[in-house]
Amino acid sequence: MSNVADQALLRRTFAIISHPDAGKTTLTEKLLLFGGAIQLAGTVKGRKATRHATSDWMALEQQRGISITTSVMQFPYKDRIVNLLDTPGHEDFSEDTYRTLTAVDSALMVIDAAKGVETRTIKLMEVCRLRDTPIISFVNKLDREGRPPLELLDEIEKVLGLQCTPITWPLGMGREFKGVYHLLEDRFYLYSGDKHRISEIETVDGLLSPGLGDRFGQSYQTLRDEIELLQMAGTEFDLDKYRAAKLTPVFFGSAISNFGVRELLNGFVEWAPPPQPRATDARDVEPTESKFSGFVFKIQANMDPKHRDRVAFLRVCSGAYRRGMALHSVRLGGPVRISSALTFMASDRETVEEAWPGDIIGLHNHGNIAIGDALTEGETLRFLGIPNFAPELFRRVVLRDPLKAKQLNKGLDQLCEEGATQVYRPLTNNDIILGAVGTLQFDVVQFRLRDEYNVESSFEPVSVHCARWVDCPDPALFNAFVDKNETRMARDHYGDLVYLASSSVNLSMTRERHPEVRFLDTKEHA
Ligand code: G4P
Repeated sequence: MSNVADQALLRRTFAIISHPDAGKTTLTEKLLLFGGAIQLAGTVKGRKATRHATSDWMALEQQRGISITTSVMQFPYKDRIVNLLDTPGHEDFSEDTYRTLTAVDSALMVIDAAKGVETRTIKLMEVCRLRDTPIISFVNKLDREGRPPLELLDEIEKVLGLQCTPITWPLGMGREFKGVYHLLEDRFYLYSGDKHRISEIETVDGLLSPGLGDRFGQSYQTLRDEIELLQMAGTEFDLDKYRAAKLTPVFFGSAISNFGVRELLNGFVEWAPPPQPRATDARDVEPTESKFSGFVFKIQANMDPKHRDRVAFLRVCSGAYRRGMALHSVRLGGPVRISSALTFMASDRETVEEAWPGDIIGLHNHGNIAIGDALTEGETLRFLGIPNFAPELFRRVVLRDPLKAKQLNKGLDQLCEEGATQVYRPLTNNDIILGAVGTLQFDVVQFRLRDEYNVESSFEPVSVHCARWVDCPDPALFNAFVDKNETRMARDHYGDLVYLASSSVNLSMTRERHPEVRFLDTKEHA
């Protein structure tokens, strides 16, 4: 089948969002196991590296590159092609995570049953909300003592503002965990606690099936009471509301014991949206269009330490990618030469012959592809909704050898285009100020400047509290604002003006004094 519309309809492209330690890595692995993409548990590694100290982490990155195979994982499941996009585990690289979320059509949220909704999840949900990304929830670690399930749903509703519809419901918890009841199928799936293989799961049909009370005692009674409460609350599943990101179907399980994961995956492939239309500055691009288009949401460097290669990850938005086709870079206004593109099966990367809307392809990149780039067959359009987020940490770059200024600038420009850091050049002096979301980002930049550009640098503290992109509909007022605040103004890598506030008080006072100016904490990629 090679019709664009048919191929697009088969695709389900998603990412997992969670707070560290909730079980994202474990669930990823189990999804691949159930998807038949890997044979054995213990194959998905990589994120463990994030638990090491910075120096170890850097050495690890060097030794084996960031594990590419866990960046995008494609596997077929029930007549669908599932694309699972991985997001960095370490908070310091959350910008990467935010951008990855712009490339998916839905997300899966993992919540630790004992901890409930945690800070990182809240932040990631905010990003999902920017595009109304539909969310399916998985409450994990039911094999351990956790919080009452009703309380967890209540928290999701209150904190994340998502209406919850339980699809499965736990029968007991912790040592008393006996399984889950599937509300739509009216069937119990019983838990054996086997962590090591996908064992046959015993099922019992019917909530009121005889003998369950004797077999499961108080856990069964509690489940009956809770189901009754849920039915009274009227939380039926509504596909439209889920797709509109108003409602989240909730599954319970224990990823480590392979339990509840198959039901989750079945629900996911049935309900998750296929590739969606994408807004551009020119028009909406439909996935079913025959002409190819896509955008770059992530660049990964040093995938292969021997070859200094960089791979740009492109989300196909419309049409078909075919090996050898000529691609047009909208930013550069001309053709980009792509020797070959990669596709990602769970355990391998291989050259791709063709790719369809929803798929992610990896393009070898020699510095001519930047984050946010649109690649087309010639049409000029810019995909919207791939934001730059205002960084929270700032450093001034100090160059050890002044003769290396050119290399430094080249390196920083490139690292900026890869999304590794943000660079600000003040209007009134020659400083170079770097912005990042987490300190590890600075370490990586320093390391890569030395390793790839032969530039020794150090970074020192600078009195910048936050950066805000500024604009104003009235050019005269805007110029007056810029003149008045010249010493706190800078240009970012793309030439846009930024106000570098020295403190939150400074920012709010400047805002008050200039109500005509907009101070923005996100900016669309150029
Ligand atoms: P993350 O990617 O979200 O950070 O989480 P990860 O899967 O690495 O899981 C975090 C810890 O939680 C791991 O334990 C993992 O084994 C455990 N875990 C994941 N799912 C479940 C579950 O369903 N039940 C229970 N009881 N534990 C679960 P760890 O001790 O930190 O690492 P490890 O030594 O087990 O690899």
